[in-house]
Amino acid sequence: MKIIVTGGAGFLGSRVISQLLEAQDAGRLPVQVTRIISLDLAECPVQDPRVDSRVGDLTDPQLVSELVDADVAGIYHMAAVLSGGSESDFDLAYKVNVDATKQLLEAARATGQRPAFIFTSSLAVFGGEMPQVVPENLAAQPESTYGATKTIGELMVNEYSRKGYVDARICRLPTISVRPGTPNSAASSFASGIIREPLQGVASEVPVPLETRMWLSSPNTAVENLVHAFIVEADRLGTWRVLNLPGVTVTVAEMLDALETVGGAEARSLVSRREDQKIMDIVCSWPGEFDVERTLSLGFRPDSSFEAAVRQFHEEFVA
Ligand SMILES: NC(=O)c1ccc[n+]([C@@H]2O[C@H](COP(=O)([O-])OP(=O)(O)OC[C@H]3O[C@@H](n4cnc5c(N)ncnc54)[C@H](O)[C@@H]3O)[C@@H](O)[C@H]2O)c1
Repeated sequence: MKIIVTGGAGFLGSRVISQLLEAQDAGRLPVQVTRIISLDLAECPVQDPRVDSRVGDLTDPQLVSELVDADVAGIYHMAAVLSGGSESDFDLAYKVNVDATKQLLEAARATGQRPAFIFTSSLAVFGGEMPQVVPENLAAQPESTYGATKTIGELMVNEYSRKGYVDARICRLPTISVRPGTPNSAASSFASGIIREPLQGVASEVPVPLETRMWLSSPNTAVENLVHAFIVEADRLGTWRVLNLPGVTVTVAEMLDALETVGGAEARSLVSRREDQKIMDIVCSWPGEFDVERTLSLGFRPDSSFEAAVRQFHEEFVA
């Protein structure tokens, strides 16, 4: 059978594809997966004969209905317009994050096979007055276009699952840090930049107050959890399929402490502060801590600490 990964050329999507292949080789997947199709505007970087990279636009209904057929065991829907991009292009955000999600769900429904549908959502669905620790059942109250489109996506995916059209696993990811590469259009891009750049001798700026609490996951842990989302048995999930994936809570000041522990005072000295109201409006509306008892009991796991995530990045990309 095959798995489709929208956004399969992206940062998380390409890593999910690699991890799915490893899990298949290790016999950890619940079905025999012989092919993974990446659907993305860009070429998927994963080199493996089982990966079929389709370069195309997810908003093209013809392309989507061609790819999604009865052989599909699972769909990872990860293509999205991210937080910064959504705030600056409202129409594109709704076209990609909402309309194309509905088309993909319809294509999955048309197969009659109830494929697993793993949807990457975000803590950006939250906003407004929040308790220190966000409980399992807190209502979404987004304060950004990105958060609003993800909330709509969550409800649609859950409803298609409740109706038996797909088998949903909606994963609210923490902010990913430390992300290698270059900055992206996410408002939270600095959460990686303030660690990644100084560890490589490059200056970086903190755009939010140092006491801002962040809910973070390393890329490796987030990807392992996304693969687990395909593996976990449907009957353990109930009807409300939204999962707050585990993360660690750190303030920006504590992130800089971890930077100094791993990279030394020199790396720390490359970080300066320049508040950016646009970024603060988005990022400071996000929660910094979640009750993840349910997801932990389902076998998802957090990083041991943020410092461990910084060390992981340092060992993999700097040392
Ligand atoms: N990285 C994070 O911190 C984070 C946190 C929470 C949620 N998420 C979610 O995880 C998913 C993946 O994020 P990422 O960090 O890998 O982002 P990314 O930007 O690296 O990947 C997204 C991919 O989607 C593709 N894409 C965008 N529009 C498309 C279209 N119309 N047709 C086909 N492909 C299209 C892009 O080309 C890109 O390769 C997204 O849904 C994002 O909202 C990410």
